[in-house]
Amino acid sequence: MTSHLRIRSIRAREVLDSRGRPTVEVELACGDGEPQRAIAPSGASTGAAEACELRDGDPRRYDGLGVQRAVENVQRVLAPALVGFDVCDQAGLDARMIELDATPNKSRLGANAILAVSLACAKAAASVRKRPLFEYLHELFVQQARAAGAANKVLETPHIPLPMTNLISGGLHAGGNLDFQDFLVMPEGAPSYAVGLEWIVRVYRRLGRLLDEAGYEGRLVGDEGGYGPRLSEQRAALEFIVRAIEAAGLQPGSDMTIALDVAATHFYESGAYRLTATRHRQLTADELTSELSVLVDEFPVRSIEDGLSEDDWRGWQGLTERLGDRVWLVGDDLFATQVSRIERGIAEGCANSALIKLNQVGTLTETLAAVLAARRGGYACIVSARSGETEDDFLADLAVATAADSIKIGSIVRSERLAKYNRLLRIAEQLEA
Ligand code: PGA
Ligand code: ZN
Repeated sequence: MTSHLRIRSIRAREVLDSRGRPTVEVELACGDGEPQRAIAPSGASTGAAEACELRDGDPRRYDGLGVQRAVENVQRVLAPALVGFDVCDQAGLDARMIELDATPNKSRLGANAILAVSLACAKAAASVRKRPLFEYLHELFVQQARAAGAANKVLETPHIPLPMTNLISGGLHAGGNLDFQDFLVMPEGAPSYAVGLEWIVRVYRRLGRLLDEAGYEGRLVGDEGGYGPRLSEQRAALEFIVRAIEAAGLQPGSDMTIALDVAATHFYESGAYRLTATRHRQLTADELTSELSVLVDEFPVRSIEDGLSEDDWRGWQGLTERLGDRVWLVGDDLFATQVSRIERGIAEGCANSALIKLNQVGTLTETLAAVLAARRGGYACIVSARSGETEDDFLADLAVATAADSIKIGSIVRSERLAKYNRLLRIAEQLEA
């Protein structure tokens, strides 16, 4: 290996995410190149199967949420072991970090520490090779697929995925005003990504006006920049969105469709789905499935994420039998970007799509493996941001590189989200050139 490909230095620091919570930033340099920076995102509605986000627990700093221990793990454990490593050997580097951590969920060193190093390594490799990040990531993806013996049909050429954009938030993202966590739109009929983005902004604005006119002034804004009106039920959110699409001069169902993130894990308690924000009701998995199916009948809903809880595998089978040939049924908490859980879902007929979040598993290599596992089962892939995000736009390149079906970034009014939407505009230009 020539010396310009060797990792020269790895440094870490504590920075803040979009919710004002600390997270890990890493700068990694190789050869005589400039250091490349990556930052770990962080979720609020986390699944139980997710890799561990290491926090200090010291109440004197950031209410216990500091990540100084994770930062130290980068400086004291990971950096000394990885300096001198081939920056292009992403799989080797990720495997070495997993070995150094030696726990099933990265709880010793922290998935936040490990992920930031993993992503910074990929950026540094792309930079030293003078390649756009998405192209380099695609190359890694292809290599990994071949090594796993995956058939060519799981590999598509890089393309801009369909945005899935948050308009209204409830659940843990907006003070519990609605039971379902997110109401989103997808510009399915748009002739290009740029046109789709303009449609989304137009619908977002029309929706704001409609909510104002209906007396939901001073509406709270959710973690990801969606509106957070206190509506009486989920159906009202869907009605407002359909009216906003029409007010934007677009056709609901052909130009613009709706996606839901029910995030049902968070209102599932001792075997029952407890809807508390919108009338107090207790539902079985079957009953919630029936309610979702009515929403699919009445509204242009094309995707339902976490329609049921993360451990309700039997319920998921019923949901998938009922709606699997009509909409994307997306496993977020259900799969937690873990190959073993995705494979179980495929074997047992649960869901037909996987949400892919880098920090749920904690390395780039394992994230690509999760995408491959989903693809092998014919599942759609939706690459997703977290509610706690930063200016790091890695996600956009990852979604393009893996030819994801969709990308879920949040709303279009906050800079940590726009970093990704805007990066996609630039990539689109490169892909067209
Ligand atoms: P989170 O939410 O980042 O707070 O987990 C995103 C989601 O549930 O999809
Ligand atoms: Zn979710």
